[in-house]
Amino acid sequence: MTTIITNCGEIAHLSIGDITKPISGHEMSDKESLVYAKDNAIVIKNGKIMTIDQNEVMIDEFIPWYTGGNITNDSYNIVDAGGKAIIPGLVDSHTHLVWSGDRYNELSMRQNGLSYHDISNLGGGIMKTVETTRNTEFTNLLSKANDRLDIAISYGTTTLEAKSGYGLSNNTEDILLKVISSLAKNSQCNVFSTWLGAHDFPSNKKRSEYIEELIEIQLPNVYENKLAKWVDVFCEPGWFSLEDTERIVNASHEVGLKSRLHVDEFVDSNGLKLASELGSVSGDHVAFSNDESRNLASKSGTMQTFLPGTPYILGKKIDLPIQKCIDEDWNFSIASDFNPNYSSLSMPFIGSLLTHRLNINPLTSLVASTRNPASTLFESDEMRGSLAIGSPADLNIISSSYIDGWCQTPGINPISKTMIDGEIVNSNKTI
Ligand code: NIG
Ligand code: FE
Repeated sequence: MTTIITNCGEIAHLSIGDITKPISGHEMSDKESLVYAKDNAIVIKNGKIMTIDQNEVMIDEFIPWYTGGNITNDSYNIVDAGGKAIIPGLVDSHTHLVWSGDRYNELSMRQNGLSYHDISNLGGGIMKTVETTRNTEFTNLLSKANDRLDIAISYGTTTLEAKSGYGLSNNTEDILLKVISSLAKNSQCNVFSTWLGAHDFPSNKKRSEYIEELIEIQLPNVYENKLAKWVDVFCEPGWFSLEDTERIVNASHEVGLKSRLHVDEFVDSNGLKLASELGSVSGDHVAFSNDESRNLASKSGTMQTFLPGTPYILGKKIDLPIQKCIDEDWNFSIASDFNPNYSSLSMPFIGSLLTHRLNINPLTSLVASTRNPASTLFESDEMRGSLAIGSPADLNIISSSYIDGWCQTPGINPISKTMIDGEIVNSNKTI
């Protein structure tokens, strides 16, 4: 079956240079090299992009009888983009997808002056979600996670990383990772799993005891049963120290698990520096990291992943140094950080925070939501995140003819149709 998307508006192909590597600096907004002008068509064969060329030429060559509209026959599946723009499938490289419970009471606590730390010390925060998650059966967790994944797909996400971390015991972390494995097997979305046993300390154990459990019991279970590709640690004063993080990550690296870490979310504790020294693929949050750490991350190939939804929801100023990353040529990505405290799976909204709040170019924000995070998730020979010839056709048709429209409708979904491996997996009404 050949699929042809006719009558395209702008196409953000993002396929310049080595597509397994991120794009940095002012190249991220170089429209001439990253975007095709309108009036092209995309030809897809066996789920992969075969050609992108002028609409009329492609119609003449493949479907000379075609006069417009969506048509499916024995040989062709024709999708009429109606002049709308095409962007790669969005890649959400940081989510806490699997948990149950309800923490919406915490907003008023914050508004009354309590901090994230205070709420946690009062029995809210991560530990509250751990309690409800532990009391939820596998099938219920799976069904919730599945619904959330469908929501993410409806916002154009075609690749998603999901972490455990609300179990905090071998048994429950195992269940959460098996939920993610089941999603990965059964969804068309590309789902990746990260073990975050080191998200917090369970109340029934001493800190040192729990770290021993992580290394001696949970880690062997994760790698022997191939439950995750990465380890993550919440490296932050009050949670896991630099020393704890180093121990857990080194033990994980020894058995072949790579790392992506929560660092410098509330203060600069040199977490990003440690992530770079350890060779982590990504340091996430990085709101307070110092410039020396950022420079080091760039040199060592550790992606800085900003999660602007978190300060947004915590009522803090969103003053992330993203423009500085661009000016300094430091690689960066953005992701949702979906979690019980930040319940949004919309990458277009994250793009809006960058463009509308930090004055970042929409194309730059798109690169940070597609090709750059993909380079931290996929092996080189299976790379996605751009619309390069030969790549799997993971893409979105959006509601605007300009690719810039991908992140300019906060609260309204800009995604019209989503394709994964050349198959339409979702359609939405759009404005
Ligand atoms: O990335 N900071 C650690 N983990 C999550 C929040 C977890 C929670 O509040 O439940 C985050 O922001
Ligand atoms: Fe997180």
